[in-house]
Amino acid sequence: TDSGTFQSYIYGDVEVSPQEIVAFQREIGVDVGTMLDVFGRPDMSRQDLESSVEETFARSEISLEEAGDDILLNGPIQGGLHHDLRARSAKLMGNADFGGNSFSIHPIGGIVPLMEQQRYRELIEVLLSSKSELPPNRPIHFFGCGHPMLFPLAIALGVDIFDSAAYAIFARDNRIMTPEGTIKLEGLEEWPFHSRILGDLTPELVRSMEKEERCKILSRHNLDITQAELARCREAIRSGTIWQLAEKRSHCSPQLRDAFVWLQDQLVSPDDGPIGKAVLDLIASCNPLRKGGEEFVEDTEFRPHFLHMQALLANRWRIPGSWWDSSSGAPERLVIIHSAPPPWRASALETAIKFLLEEPKSIIFVETPLGPIPFTLEDLSPWCHLVGPDDMWLPSFEDEELLPFLMDFGVSGTPLVRTPPLELTELPKESISKVREWIDRCSIVDKLTLLCSIHAMDACKMTQEMSIRKSRTDRIVNVFIEEKHSFSPRLTDGGISISNQGAARLNNLHKTNPPDFGQEESDEVFSGTPRVCIVDDAVPFVGLGRNVIHGYVSGADSHIVPGQPCLIVNSEGSLVAHGIALSTSVEMSFFRKGIAVKVREGVMKGKD
Ligand code: GUN
Repeated sequence: TDSGTFQSYIYGDVEVSPQEIVAFQREIGVDVGTMLDVFGRPDMSRQDLESSVEETFARSEISLEEAGDDILLNGPIQGGLHHDLRARSAKLMGNADFGGNSFSIHPIGGIVPLMEQQRYRELIEVLLSSKSELPPNRPIHFFGCGHPMLFPLAIALGVDIFDSAAYAIFARDNRIMTPEGTIKLEGLEEWPFHSRILGDLTPELVRSMEKEERCKILSRHNLDITQAELARCREAIRSGTIWQLAEKRSHCSPQLRDAFVWLQDQLVSPDDGPIGKAVLDLIASCNPLRKGGEEFVEDTEFRPHFLHMQALLANRWRIPGSWWDSSSGAPERLVIIHSAPPPWRASALETAIKFLLEEPKSIIFVETPLGPIPFTLEDLSPWCHLVGPDDMWLPSFEDEELLPFLMDFGVSGTPLVRTPPLELTELPKESISKVREWIDRCSIVDKLTLLCSIHAMDACKMTQEMSIRKSRTDRIVNVFIEEKHSFSPRLTDGGISISNQGAARLNNLHKTNPPDFGQEESDEVFSGTPRVCIVDDAVPFVGLGRNVIHGYVSGADSHIVPGQPCLIVNSEGSLVAHGIALSTSVEMSFFRKGIAVKVREGVMKGKD
């Protein structure tokens, strides 16, 4: 239930005290009530908005006290269009506490006028600046937002709960909801959509109904559509495609598209205010690798998971420390192979070998529709998994357009050769196999530095004596170090899986104490494979392969990447297990429920 704040915005003051309204909600048996916040309209002066934020916060303690243990409370965020006020409100309300009771959900308040006027860009600004300071474990409600068209984007940006009256309010005004927008009943000859509820009727018949009956039937349709779109969003979350759904919906209205394009700009160049913080958190919380194909469209390069992978490439990829002929030193040239669709071991390997034999100090890249990428990052998603017309693999960048990418990789000063795939003719077999071995090793070094965050030098040392097993399609399947299976590159997303042996090696590289939420940590680029330190009680379970549950984590390295490998250690830093992180380190420090790390293998496996 709501508190009457919105009624005060519509009708003027409501005569009820903050305590009375919480007591009333508690007495009627409400599960989640709302405190009496002060509605901050977008057109209010900064001073008035400041006092709406401060007064709402001032009432939070008495509201939480009144709520006691019998009712959960919503703690609304106000602040109008001012990013700093939204962030302040979020910080105050997020930390509000009375005797151990805090708010359970944070609704974003004062946004109804923005939605009514389709000011979606400002709506997103408000959401992001509020989110920048909200505790990550608190659900977010979007006050007054119940239109399915807005669900995917709002959810992609962190909203959990929507308005439950919109479907009926729209129906009362003869407005029909669809996931792509609103259609007025007036003037319709046919239903321009499928509807389980309206399908057997004609628009004319519905128009001729008594108001109450019409309202009821349109409400049922609107509710059906609302439920279906929520299900679609949940499925998209499960399949890792909620952003793509938001992208699709962004084409439903020019205002929404404008907001989405603005958001893409923020993702590419985050500012140093609350919005920049929120978008960086968003990128960091995405698994950078996705399984399966990814369609190549104008928006692909702005997707948060792609930007995350690109940031990892820019920060962590290094040119080889030594070349296949054992020489070392700066590269002599950069070869970019174009017109080579994946798999590159089929389309570009011979060309790479030819150029490397000719000049061992060559760096080999492949040109993809998303820009050039090191040849050794074979199978990396989405570069190698793009879905689109065949001609997207033809060269599409001018030399100058390649420059920003090459600068990111730190190879921009190297002389450039661009070539289509070439035939390999009459080359010495022995050298070919030497080059191939070197390429294979580079590909493991690259994946270990990129996805396990170990220093390239350490990765080189570790792979010095490696041997490999390949598939019939010439792909590396297993990597053995000192004859023990340690790593497996994955075909599905280009990632790398680690075994207990590999995990032990990665953990041995750590020279620092295990992470502890109470302590500062260094922000080196290569801080080693991220570690999650668990409390002693959990060690026997996790050591046998049980998942790490939130609440049992005492520290986590800040460079943990959700969806990627991490090591699980005890308070002494000894390896307990390894697995796939499902949260960021900040999330691990807040969450108390759910799985923090999906464990792949415990070191005590087989000892139970
Ligand atoms: N309903 C829509 N907006 C608001 C708001 O800002 N506060 C409250 N309490 N309810 C709302």
